[in-house]
Amino acid sequence: MSLKHAFWGVVPAAGVGKRMGANIPKQYLPVSGKPVLQHTLERLLSVEALSAVVVALGLEDGFWPDLPFADNPRILVADGGKERADSVLSALNRLEGLASADDWVLVHDAARLCITRSDVLKLIEQLEHDPVGGILALPSSDTLKGVTDGIIVDTVDRNHVWRALTPQMFRYGSLHDALSSAAELGLTVTDEASALELKGHTPRIVEGRPDNIKITRPEDLSLAAFYLEQQCCE
Ligand code: C5P
Repeated sequence: MSLKHAFWGVVPAAGVGKRMGANIPKQYLPVSGKPVLQHTLERLLSVEALSAVVVALGLEDGFWPDLPFADNPRILVADGGKERADSVLSALNRLEGLASADDWVLVHDAARLCITRSDVLKLIEQLEHDPVGGILALPSSDTLKGVTDGIIVDTVDRNHVWRALTPQMFRYGSLHDALSSAAELGLTVTDEASALELKGHTPRIVEGRPDNIKITRPEDLSLAAFYLEQQCCE
């Protein structure tokens, strides 16, 4: 792996996790004895290529100080924003003066705690010579329907549909530019790739593992615990 440009991690962790229905944000719920966010960050920190990881935290976050990262020189923090994209942009601003325009940034959801080191390395290896970058994704095994008011209005050809996962890996300068433009235009982007697409870039797809799930609903917690246990035996 050539290390001509530095690699940085960005973890948006400022969501409230409404769909979990829990009284603490989902990134702090325990899975196999540790908060979700701790699993996620430990896995990212196991990738030596990442110079540092910026974590975007909610302004009212009282849980972060209990995690064992306060003295970790590879962890930086930034204020989260209203939407995920605002949190990512704030984390990118924290890297100003540290990252150069062509450095790579890997943005990874706090809620994807089952990310494997091997998938992060695969993403880096497959994209580090690409001009734009790309994302981990999974081909859809289900047929997808467009639905309006409970009625199917469209069937999407599943051969052309992939589910976007994270990390999503782009150059610092173009990612900052794309997210800033989307914010100025008032466009809501739910991942980094769509911000780049709006600027006319063509991100690549790298097939990821199906166990890279995002904690969204209560039942995801036990599924994540199962995957973590399985991965230990690999
Ligand atoms: O809500 P969703 O699961 O799509 O959130 C994906 C990630 O974005 C989570 O890790 C969440 O903490 C983060 N997020 C954020 N700032 C927000 C909303 C979500 O950092 N305002």
